Amino acid sequence: MSNKLEGKIAVVTGGTSGIGLATAKEFTAQGAKVIITGRKKDEVEKIANEIDGIGIVCDQSKLSDIENLVTQVKSQFSSIDILFVNAGIVLFSSIEEATEDHFDRIMDTNFKGSFFTLSKFIPLIAEGGAITLLSSINATTGQSNSAIYSASKAALLALVKVGSTELVKKGIRINAVCPGPISTNLLAPAGLDNATVQKFASETLNKIPMKRFGKPEEVAKLVAFLSSEDAAFITGSEYVIDGGTNVNPIIG
Ligand SMILES: NC(=O)c1ccc[n+]([C@@H]2O[C@H](COP(=O)([O-])OP(=O)(O)OC[C@H]3O[C@@H](n4cnc5c(N)ncnc54)[C@H](OP(=O)(O)O)[C@@H]3O)[C@@H](O)[C@H]2O)c1
Repeated sequence: MSNKLEGKIAVVTGGTSGIGLATAKEFTAQGAKVIITGRKKDEVEKIANEIDGIGIVCDQSKLSDIENLVTQVKSQFSSIDILFVNAGIVLFSSIEEATEDHFDRIMDTNFKGSFFTLSKFIPLIAEGGAITLLSSINATTGQSNSAIYSASKAALLALVKVGSTELVKKGIRINAVCPGPISTNLLAPAGLDNATVQKFASETLNKIPMKRFGKPEEVAKLVAFLSSEDAAFITGSEYVIDGGTNVNPIIG
């Protein structure tokens, strides 16, 4: 087992499920002390116990919750080394039918929440620290009914570029990870019925050259690499992890 993150303090937003949970486990396995967040108290406490970490209930879409999170982390640690801004949701709607509520729910968590999580944690991140924002291949593809989700993830790519310029002066790196389809519970809150989910899954599978969904643990290993000293010369970059989906071959 690698101990590349030995002694590091890491914060993972949305660490109770899927990619966030797998990454919290990977960080822990590599020697970090991990603080996870989520909105459900029971889940947050259960996972924190499982990884021998710290759980803080936080709705990342609310600025007051983010400020409380930062205050709580600060009361226990003078600084942190790793920030993984992962919490996110997906909902589907055509551009024509999208409502203000749909727009706000996605943007409040995926962009506003990620932005202020980053913004408020910056003073607490130690020199040599590493930040990863969880974007998506949707940021650069045209999947129908995903306009607001895709825009929220594209906004994170802009944030990584600007962030890398601002943070390099503090010796902090920031990168984006853009997964393709990964087996998680992401679709659960989208309110789709089982048949729609199955149809969506088989259509999606057809478009993945590797003919399988990614595993959260595979994304976790990439995030752990970017968070480690092995990635010391990498900042402002976007890492696609999608089984070749972005290649979109004309023939093949
Ligand atoms: N799965 C994919 O195919 C895929 C592909 C590309 C990008 N992504 C991105 O990967 C990230 C993780 O998603 P996942 O696939 O691992 O889904 P997931 O299994 O549903 O996990 C989402 C996590 O985020 C938390 N969360 C959601 N809204 C939150 C909020 N407002 N405040 C705090 N925590 C919140 C959830 O906990 P609670 O609901 O209990 O709060 C949960 O821990 C998301 O940003 C998603 O957009 C996923």
